[in-house]
Amino acid sequence: MPANKAKNNEMRLPRHVAIIMDGNGRWAEKRFLPRVAGHKAGVDSVRAAVTICGELGIEALTLFAFSSENWARPAEEVSLLMELFLSALEKEVKKLHKANVRLRIIGDLSRFNAKLRSRIADAEALTAGNTGLRLFIAANYGGQWDIAQAARRLAARVQQGELALEGITPEALEAEVCLADAPKPDLFIRTGGEHRISNFLLWQLAYTELYFTDTLWPDFDAEQFKKALADFSRRERRFGKTGAQVRSEDKA
Ligand code: IPE
Ligand code: IPE
Ligand code: MG
Repeated sequence: MPANKAKNNEMRLPRHVAIIMDGNGRWAEKRFLPRVAGHKAGVDSVRAAVTICGELGIEALTLFAFSSENWARPAEEVSLLMELFLSALEKEVKKLHKANVRLRIIGDLSRFNAKLRSRIADAEALTAGNTGLRLFIAANYGGQWDIAQAARRLAARVQQGELALEGITPEALEAEVCLADAPKPDLFIRTGGEHRISNFLLWQLAYTELYFTDTLWPDFDAEQFKKALADFSRRERRFGKTGAQVRSEDKA
């Protein structure tokens, strides 16, 4: 039975969930706290999301931690976010490893300092052999950057004479964008009330089911996550076909 089909009355789960964790700043501001307090509180929600995905046997979870546009924030917030990223990596990686999680950071890492880059490499190496949840953290990630870097790699192969111009196809590009070796995201969640994809996974989100909630990321707990999963399980995914076609395939 395909993983995205379930028996009657069994909840149909996504194989891959991708989340824009938004609303940390507003969560803190509502409490008259500095914005960084919201980012710190958001780490607890990350832990909760990872735990529930592990428990449910969801294959992959991608979390947007820092966008390529977030460098435009006040320098103090950017540097506090970097510190938090580094300390979360140092604190959480052993626990992730114990939980059999395989961690990878996606994005343009060249802009991070050497210390952060080496921590990232260590964390990825430590967890590379794990067979449980695949956790992708998008850091200095932009969907447009991702498509451009994929195009650049294909162009290099054309230049080397390894690939014909006609070889630049959606399938070839698909193999070069980030997350190519994971199932396509089935469910996208954005917390914090904004109804936009910003510059997240632009290529990969074709046909992903979109779920938006006003809940601010630090308040997004296991119960909220399950609500999103329940909503997903009621969606009919048609991929261009008619509803009748899909329903007759499901019965087969
Ligand atoms: C998301 O929360 C976290 C990051 C972008 C790092 P925000 O910091 O964007 O929170 P709001 O949107 O200002 O509330
Ligand atoms: C999106 O949040 C990026 C992350 C959650 C890391 P933002 O709060 O930066 O999004 P926009 O720019 O307002 O759309
Ligand atoms: Mg925001």
